[in-house]
Amino acid sequence: MARPRGGPRRPSVTDVAREAGVSVGTVSNVLNRPDTVSPGTREKVEAAIESLHFVRNASARQLRSGEITTVGAVVLDIANPFFTEMARGIEDRLAQDDHTLMLCSSDEDPHREARFLRLFEERGVRGVLATPSNGSLDALLSLRERGTDVVLLDHTSPVPDIGSVAVDDVGGASLAMNHLLDLGHTRLAFVNGPLTLRQCVDRRDGVIQTLTARGLDPAEALVEVNLDALNPNAADAAVHRLLASAGPRPTAMFCANDVTALGALRALRDGGISIPEDMAVVGYDDVIFASMLTTPLTSVRQPMHTLGWTAADMLLRGPDAEQPRQVEFAPELVVRASSGSGAPARA
Ligand code: RIB
Repeated sequence: MARPRGGPRRPSVTDVAREAGVSVGTVSNVLNRPDTVSPGTREKVEAAIESLHFVRNASARQLRSGEITTVGAVVLDIANPFFTEMARGIEDRLAQDDHTLMLCSSDEDPHREARFLRLFEERGVRGVLATPSNGSLDALLSLRERGTDVVLLDHTSPVPDIGSVAVDDVGGASLAMNHLLDLGHTRLAFVNGPLTLRQCVDRRDGVIQTLTARGLDPAEALVEVNLDALNPNAADAAVHRLLASAGPRPTAMFCANDVTALGALRALRDGGISIPEDMAVVGYDDVIFASMLTTPLTSVRQPMHTLGWTAADMLLRGPDAEQPRQVEFAPELVVRASSGSGAPARA
């Protein structure tokens, strides 16, 4: 909560100078060039800083020095462990250069995203890392044109001027589907989020391409369960509806990310469906809880920490660095008990 107006004023450099009986310039020297100040004077100033609880104003200092050390990042939802782990990678890279992170969630809402981008620009951040909330990159492209460097997180970039760090989600969905098809499943459900998200579009493309490549007609073999948002409650409600619907029930379910798989598992359990005997389940991300579930979740692993670290590194190196500005990582299938391949219970 912002400090209430009229609250106690922060002590200034002038207050410290008056308290120590020295000039403002001497206080500034103690803060920035302490070796140029005699020990006796330095002790007087340090005592005044201590007694006034003075804290230097980093923003003012940064503005004077031109060195901006805050990076803004807007992701879809920091409550999703995928983004939390990715943010940790960003933070770890920024900390190496004494930079800090301002992290926000767009909740897949482009208006909310635009508000945070404006806030970052007003605060004069070093640059912006963003997982776009929908198909349009217009706000990010104009931010870049006005001079703020932008690197896309978990999204490919259509222009060389904007960096990007992503994972091959078409290939990732193909790993999940081929795994289930290899287990003999011929009627499968795909629980997916809104197609305004690039991740959901690419994962669906991977599902359709894989079925077709394996000689199956998606219209016959696939039941699409489309969610308004990629969260557990939406998945829980949608899978309850699937179980109540007519028609042959699928024997396998691929969920577009692990948090939706969590909601789907709760609905399947409520419906008395045993995993994997009645329904093999595969998630996506391999977040921290995937291996800890009672029936550990098979999932397509994304290198979350590396995604964040790489994007932050790309931003700090700047648009003119030698390194590539478009990086794509390969996903990896982690097989566990939820897909019924006889995998060990804890893996
Ligand atoms: O939030 C959308 C999903 O896309 C995340 O769970 C992760 O899979 C990202 O790639």
